[in-house]
Amino acid sequence: MPGVKKTRQAVVIYTRYERFWHWSQAGLIFFLAFTGFNLHGSYDLLSFETAVTLHSYAAITLMLLWIFTTFWNFTTGNWKQFLPFFGIRTPDGKRSSKFIIFLIRVFAVMRYYAYGILKDEEHPFKKTLRRKQNALQGMAYLTFMIFMGPALWLTGIFYLTYDFWNEIPNAGLYLTIIAFIHTAAAFIIIAFAVIHVYMTTTGHTPFHYIKGMITGVEEIELTDVEKAYLEQDHPERLG
Ligand code: HEM
Repeated sequence: MPGVKKTRQAVVIYTRYERFWHWSQAGLIFFLAFTGFNLHGSYDLLSFETAVTLHSYAAITLMLLWIFTTFWNFTTGNWKQFLPFFGIRTPDGKRSSKFIIFLIRVFAVMRYYAYGILKDEEHPFKKTLRRKQNALQGMAYLTFMIFMGPALWLTGIFYLTYDFWNEIPNAGLYLTIIAFIHTAAAFIIIAFAVIHVYMTTTGHTPFHYIKGMITGVEEIELTDVEKAYLEQDHPERLG
């Protein structure tokens, strides 16, 4: 907000659970990609049976993690971080004005990654206590949760339970379609992971953002009110 005095301060912005689920999800997706493409036949580092067993256990673990994390997101209010308009304040409070500001922000971030970054410009988005993600990032994670994740777990569950429905007519054809969607979603998630890892290296130093997700600490601008709130209610979050 213009006119409000702010001070830069190191603050724990990613809680312990958030860091735990982030890194476990990253490890599990990497492991699922490795075992999945092994059983797909892309390489033969493991036997088919071992790859299927490991893939199935890792998939069940990831689905449990997603269930817990969805619960955590809703109970802590963190789910709002993924809403496109969250944290956007306009004088008239109208949704249409928020939408325009959101679009301007998305284009500012896109312009930055396409051009500004090469000219050493400052990132147009500054993390705050309320809003941890920029507009483009929030949209990317929402797409991950709404489309890519469900495409994988839905088809994966059909795949896992094939023995229960393999006698319905055309079961073989359905399985081929399911396998195709599952593999396509796996490719998309791998592309997502590659872009995501590239993005993490674009901070002040290549490991700046990665360090933030390990320690939970980032330097952000705090208003006097936010600072007083943290000092009184969460002193452990102030670095
Ligand atoms: C989220 C939950 C997931 C479940 C429940 C799941 C389940 C399965 C199952 C049961 C199979 C077939 C195993 C068999 O042939 O018996 C499979 C195959 C496969 N999975 Fe997953 N999986 C999941 C996530 C992932 C992820 C995250 C990736 C990669 C990033 C992935 C990549 C693959 C690939 C490439 C195949 C081989 C497809 C084929 O050639 O038919 N899976 N998955």
